[in-house]
Amino acid sequence: MNIDALGITRRDFLKYCSAMAVYMGLPASLGVKIAEAAESARRPSVIWISGQECTGCVESLLRLNSPTLDTLILETISLDYSETLCTPAGHQAEEAMQAAIEENKGKFILVVEGAIPVKDGGIYCKIAGKTFLDIVRDTAKDAAAVIAIGSCASWGGVPSAEPNPTGATPAYKVLEDMQVPVINIPGCPANPYNFISTVMHYLTFNTLPELDAKHRPKFAYGRLIHENCERRPHFDAGRFAYEFGDEGHRKGYCLYQLGCKGPVTYNNCPTQLYGDAGSSSWPVGTGHPCFGCSEEHVGFHIPLFTQAKIQQPTAGPGYPEVDATKGTPVTVGAAAVLGAGVGAILGASAVVAKNLKKDSADQTTEKNPQ
Ligand code: SF4
Ligand code: F3S
Repeated sequence: MNIDALGITRRDFLKYCSAMAVYMGLPASLGVKIAEAAESARRPSVIWISGQECTGCVESLLRLNSPTLDTLILETISLDYSETLCTPAGHQAEEAMQAAIEENKGKFILVVEGAIPVKDGGIYCKIAGKTFLDIVRDTAKDAAAVIAIGSCASWGGVPSAEPNPTGATPAYKVLEDMQVPVINIPGCPANPYNFISTVMHYLTFNTLPELDAKHRPKFAYGRLIHENCERRPHFDAGRFAYEFGDEGHRKGYCLYQLGCKGPVTYNNCPTQLYGDAGSSSWPVGTGHPCFGCSEEHVGFHIPLFTQAKIQQPTAGPGYPEVDATKGTPVTVGAAAVLGAGVGAILGASAVVAKNLKKDSADQTTEKNPQ
């Protein structure tokens, strides 16, 4: 990599790589190793294919305000094929893709953007006369790993919303009988930092980052949004917005009662934010509830303003640890009972449960004055 092309000093570049190490949950000292890997001549070949999607993931990747990230990506990886970005079209584009696969057989990372329609033999998404289903499977068999970027490729996303007329299916399902590893980077769009950090991990250590049971990198999807949300103290104290524009909403109170899915959605939006645009650049920061865009079976499946079930009565930052053994999935009502019964053990969650209970009673009274 040519650091000069990034328009930054070597010192800033090292700082950037150290921050990336910390972002992945690694010691900052490994930033030097990441920098060395980024500077090496070996750039992983990436072939990026697109199916049922809106192009939001690749657009978001390339439209960061960061002066360096887009350049860094293109300097770090060898983006050998991308339908959105490639210059050739038609037969030439097809030839470019085949050439990229042949040259990098067994070594390239296949990025799948978009869901894969499987109904009626996959006829609802065809490119150059071939179904996207066949394209994904044929390309994946020669890949070192597959990254499903965005919620459509990870879980089916928007195209899989009821009644899912095309049979939109995630990549991991259409590839489950194949040996190739599939990493999910969900989000609508996926956060580009989660993507580039995964690629950098692969480049630096020659292994994939630690994944959770849903094949997501743990460094990015290890915590519920609710755990790190800036409005969490309001949740714990029982201060909620009930309508857009009401007093609670104007004061920045918790959006749970408006249907926020932060309590059931794993992602790092509150800490990583979006597009380097500051603290208001993520849904809750703008005053809108999280709708669970990155969580399987939540975004595009549970109605926007339906309240989420509180699955884990976890304490917010600064509160004592919650005894996780008590945290089997519970409804809000059950959380209230649980909280009232074992408050001493659960600490802040008891307050949460109590406040929710009190709050819903207040609401009922307000809405049904006797
Ligand atoms: Fe934040 Fe939503 Fe949790 Fe409220 S319910 S604290 S707005 S994540
Ligand atoms: Fe999506 Fe919720 Fe984050 S809607 S962008 S997962 S805050």
